[in-house]
Amino acid sequence: METPLLGNTHKNSNSWGKFVFSFLALFVITGLAFGSTKTSWLVNNEQKLNGKPQVDVPEIVESGKGIVAADDRRCSEVGALMLRLGGHAVDAAVATALCVGVVNPMASGIGGGAFMVVRSASTSEALAFDMRETAPLAASENMYDNDLAAKLSGPLSMGVPGELAGLHEAWKYYGRLSWKTLFEPSIHFAENGFEVLPYLEKNILKHEKMIRDDPGLSQVFAPNGKLLQTKDICYNVKLAESLKAIADQGPPAFYNGTVGKKLVKDVREAGGILTEEDLRNYKVKVTKALAADVMGYTILGMPPPSSGTLGMTLILNILNNYGSPNAIEGPLGLHRLIEAMKHMFAVRMNLGDPAYVNITKYMSDMTSTSFAKEIWRKIYDNTTFPPEYYLSRWSQLQDNGTSHFCIVDAERNAVSVTTTVNYPFGGGVLSPSTGIVLNNEMGDFSTPTEVSPDSLPPDPANFIQPGKRPLSSMTPLIILKDDQLAGVIGGSGGMNIIPAVTQVFLNHFVLGMDPLTAVQNARVYHKLIPNVVLYENVTVIDGEHIELPIGRRTFLETRGHKLQPIEIGAICQLIVQTFESSVDLGRKTGKNFIGNTYFGKLTGVSDPRKDGRPAAV
Ligand SMILES: *[C@@H]1O[C@H](CO)[C@@H](O)[C@H](O)[C@H]1NC(C)=O
Ligand SMILES: *[C@@H]1O[C@H](CO)[C@@H](O)[C@H](O)[C@H]1NC(C)=O
Ligand SMILES: *[C@@H]1O[C@H](CO)[C@@H](O)[C@H](O)[C@H]1NC(C)=O
Ligand SMILES: *[C@@H]1O[C@H](CO)[C@@H](O)[C@H](O)[C@H]1NC(C)=O
Ligand SMILES: *[C@@H]1O[C@H](CO)[C@@H](O)[C@H](O)[C@H]1NC(C)=O
Repeated sequence: METPLLGNTHKNSNSWGKFVFSFLALFVITGLAFGSTKTSWLVNNEQKLNGKPQVDVPEIVESGKGIVAADDRRCSEVGALMLRLGGHAVDAAVATALCVGVVNPMASGIGGGAFMVVRSASTSEALAFDMRETAPLAASENMYDNDLAAKLSGPLSMGVPGELAGLHEAWKYYGRLSWKTLFEPSIHFAENGFEVLPYLEKNILKHEKMIRDDPGLSQVFAPNGKLLQTKDICYNVKLAESLKAIADQGPPAFYNGTVGKKLVKDVREAGGILTEEDLRNYKVKVTKALAADVMGYTILGMPPPSSGTLGMTLILNILNNYGSPNAIEGPLGLHRLIEAMKHMFAVRMNLGDPAYVNITKYMSDMTSTSFAKEIWRKIYDNTTFPPEYYLSRWSQLQDNGTSHFCIVDAERNAVSVTTTVNYPFGGGVLSPSTGIVLNNEMGDFSTPTEVSPDSLPPDPANFIQPGKRPLSSMTPLIILKDDQLAGVIGGSGGMNIIPAVTQVFLNHFVLGMDPLTAVQNARVYHKLIPNVVLYENVTVIDGEHIELPIGRRTFLETRGHKLQPIEIGAICQLIVQTFESSVDLGRKTGKNFIGNTYFGKLTGVSDPRKDGRPAAV
């Protein structure tokens, strides 16, 4: 589908009027192309207003021209719209991130932080944008000694937000649309209202007390004292005002201007320590993406303080010693995977922010094949072991929340973003004058006096220092095969992210499952302590039942694993590019090559566990 009606898409040339026009054009085009208007978020919006039933948009889409797979269909559509307007995958990523921050504010938003991995198809350059929150200047290692709960809840749990600065930095590198255009859909949703979907309702219900206890949260999620439910319209007018100011003035409105001033005032009145200087000092960190060669693929991801890329690399390097994909199939393969995960969790807790602690040795261990082989020798097919066996020294990081989306554009530029406010609704505070939910990312630091559920000592590499970034499990990845884009993957769900992303990767890229099956397949998780395999047993929002088969459970029990069901562990989004069997990727020959870039069919999947939907261009 071409986008000839959509007009000029260069920076600084878009206005709201043109935007609305684009919408209408899009609406008409989608209608003509598909004989229906199912995937236009504008139409979904209208349906919402008319109270008509939801249209069933598929969990899987295909396209040669670009896909956005977010955990909310409206935001996938917002991203796809930016691609249709001629935007780079990064333009779509900025608009999608802003959108999920508005419509799923329990998981992410401009009061939080994110990691973004970008690979440019034309230069093959892969960059990692670290927009994670930092500890405020007034923070200290012992600041929670007298009140450990304040690390996770309330205004003291807030790190300095990095999301906006990071989105802007990535846009400066790659963006083609105007900054303002990227904000328009989200401003529209915040100002004119958006429909509450079941996943948001679930979170509102689950955190009713937190919402009622906070004037800001109740203003948005319990207007007039009534908790919002599915199909209700949610408004966040103050957030719309903040987004408008940031759209007009750029990030300085937030980091050195009116929005930031109001935010700091609200946070300090609530008892927090954030200052305007903290905001002015926030720096995005841009580095080369961390690359690792595993099982015939190259994975590109975030360096620490994310433990995701290193964690998955270690698991795959351990499993690679079995020498065959068959070895990781079936119940025995699952046992081996669980054992590798347990070892990985033990090792990854040595990590911390490399700008503050020397983790060189652990980084090289986690990517070393000989280190992986030593661990592999300790895995037995006939048994699992008690936690001590895995030589875990430090208590596990138990992070939460988040949202993940994957984007590939027509040129095969790829973006993988995981964004978060940590726990659902962050620290449980919404700044009333800005509409922004405060993150509780300070909860991801370790503190000296903490007694964690696993009774291990806290990780000193992850102790608080002013300006430091806390350790994270977020795992946004781009996957290459012979230097060609093979996929984009990532997930949300805290500590469960690394196991989930690893399982989806193995399912598709190693075991050959089709993309939807790879994502839907029941997953297992482990926290090392307690020594229990958590297996999925859940009926998801659209009615589908996901449960680890009995045969696998029984097999694991014969190996000494204790099992426990959980509902949802983590949520994964996936985009893959299919290579024709005739193509020689190494020599770059065969049809579908234009220059050095392969252009194959793209398939995108949003995880049914969160009821998201992908959108195709
Ligand atoms: C913040 O804004 C002031 C003007 O209001 C300007 O002088 C200053 O350079 C800005 N600081 C930063 C870090 O951008
Ligand atoms: C970091 O530690 C490694 C050994 O683990 C050492 O070789 C290196 O010199 C250290 N770097 C710094 C900057 O201290
Ligand atoms: C597992 O196998 C090893 C030998 O490979 C043996 O020494 C050990 O006793 C077995 N353990 C169990 C629980 O069967
Ligand atoms: C956060 O994650 C941990 C571990 O994954 C879990 O036990 C806990 O219930 C979660 N907390 C919230 C508020 O979701
Ligand atoms: C799975 O969950 C259902 C309830 O949704 C329950 O009836 C069933 O016993 C559970 N099965 C297992 C194996 O956990």
